[in-house]
Formats: sequence, structure tokens, C-alpha cells
Amino acid sequence: MKSMNALFACTVAQLLIAGSTWAAEPGKMTEACAGCHGPNGANTDVSVPNIGGYSKAYLLSTLEGFAAQKRPCPEATYASGSKKGTKSDMCQIAKALDKADADQIAGYLAAQPFVRTKQKFDPALAEKGKPIFDKSCTKCHSVEGEISNDDAGILPGQKTEYITRQIAEFAGGTRPISKNMKTRFEKLNKAELEEIVQYLASFN
Ligand code: HEC
Ligand code: HEC
Repeated sequence: MKSMNALFACTVAQLLIAGSTWAAEPGKMTEACAGCHGPNGANTDVSVPNIGGYSKAYLLSTLEGFAAQKRPCPEATYASGSKKGTKSDMCQIAKALDKADADQIAGYLAAQPFVRTKQKFDPALAEKGKPIFDKSCTKCHSVEGEISNDDAGILPGQKTEYITRQIAEFAGGTRPISKNMKTRFEKLNKAELEEIVQYLASFN
């Protein structure tokens, strides 16, 4: 019994030390988000981005963008939970979310680790992509989390299908793009962008 108490005390201490990373998932997140994004914001659907570890500011501004339909909202199917098998999209979901819940969910997700996806990539293209990414993108996008609190989204290890779709949306003008990023994109051709995508997929 004594050792049980010691074990319990130890677990509580660990919870306290680890702080918010160990905080329970907000109920609203379990109900409204985890069915697609997974617990802690990591999932195995190649078209649904992993969002645990994204900065709180990025998450909140992105949710606002979806609610205002400034970004395309491709339909997705709930992979688990009470709505399993049904479809929805981020514009509907973000519109239905009130400010307090969005704030709580974003705070929780920001405290989770970002989970990289193990996915196929072409090593030769990835090697070509590295110097291009280093030169054109690392000013704002970190590779190993060296830009702490990265407010531009996490790219290395994010899902290839998702990244490719975002690049197409930026190029097609359907997702807003900052002027500074636009300048970088305009200097690259399709092949170079694909090399960057392969480089990003090599982080797993
Ligand atoms: C029905 C499935 C589904 C549910 C439920 C869902 N999402 Fe999403 N979410 C997606 C898909 C698919 C995308 C990618 C959209 C795209 O390609 O632009 C996405 C994208 C996002 C992004 C943008 C990520 C980025 O890198 O820019 C954020 C943030 C996000 N979701 C947060 C949430 C939150 C918070 C909830 C719960 C309130 C939620 N999502 C519920 C499917 C879902
Ligand atoms: C001047 C800063 C800057 C530079 C340089 C930059 N980006 Fe970005 N990028 C951003 C910002 C800010 C966002 C978030 C946009 C938003 O809020 O929707 C972003 C978002 C993205 C996204 C979407 C992330 C997500 O999770 O949905 C991709 C993909 C991306 N950038 C690729 C690139 C690539 C590839 C390069 C290099 C060619 C690059 N960026 C260079 C600032 C930059």
C-alpha cells in the first residue's frame, strides 16, 4: 500500500511538472475535433493535417479564416467518435465554435507535441529540395522548431497530400498568402516546389 501511495504521489508530481501538456483534452475538442484530427491533434488520415504543436496564434487565426470562408474547406469524413462515417468541413466547424471553446482548444493543442508523419518520399528530390527550402522558406518556417512559437504553420513532417493542396491553393489564389511568402513562391517553378514537398516529407 505504501508503494502504491508513493507511486500515486510520483504520478501527481509528474502531472504538475509537465503542466498543460498533461491537461485533459477539452470536452469540446473531443466532441468537435478529435473525430478527424485525432486525440492530441495527430491522426492517420493523409488529407487531415496534424495540428498538435501548432502555435496558439496560428490556430486561432486559421479558425477565424475558416469561419469567414477565406480558405477553401474540403469535405472530410469523421474517422472515429460519435459522428464516425459522416462528413463535415472546416468552415462549418469553425463557424459553430464559440470564442471561449476556440481559445481553450487552441491552448490545449499548442501544448501538444507536433507528430511527424511517416510517409514515402523521393530521396533524390528531397536532397534537391533542402537548399531551396533553406534559402526561400526557413526565414519564417522552422525545420527543427528553432523558430519557437512558429506562427507560420509547421511544415517538416506534415502530410504531403495536405501540403501539396495548400501550395496549389496559394498558387491558385484561393487561400490568402502573405506578400512576403508570395514573392518567394513566384521565384520557384513547379519542379522546385515539388522538391521542397519531397524534402518536407523526408522528416519522419
Ligand atoms: C470532418 C473532419 C474535421 C473535423 C471534425 C475538424 N477538422 Fe480541422 N481540418 C479538417 C481538414 C480536412 C483540414 C484541411 C483543410 C484544408 O485542406 O485546407 C482541416 C484543417 C484544420 C486546421 C488548419 C491546419 C493548418 O495547418 O492550417 C485547423 C487549425 C483545424 N483544422 C482545426 C480544427 C479544430 C479546432 C476542430 C474542432 C473544433 C476541427 N479542426 C475539426 C478536417 C476536420
Ligand atoms: C515571410 C515569411 C514566409 C516565408 C519566407 C514563407 N512562408 Fe509559408 N507561410 C507564412 C505564413 C505567415 C503562413 C501562414 C498563413 C496563414 O496564416 O494562413 C505560411 C503558411 C504556409 C503553408 C501552409 C501551412 C499550413 O499549415 O497550412 C505552406 C505549405 C507554406 N507556407 C509553404 C512555404 C514555402 C514552401 C516557403 C518557401 C518557398 C514559404 N512558405 C515561405 C510565411 C512565410
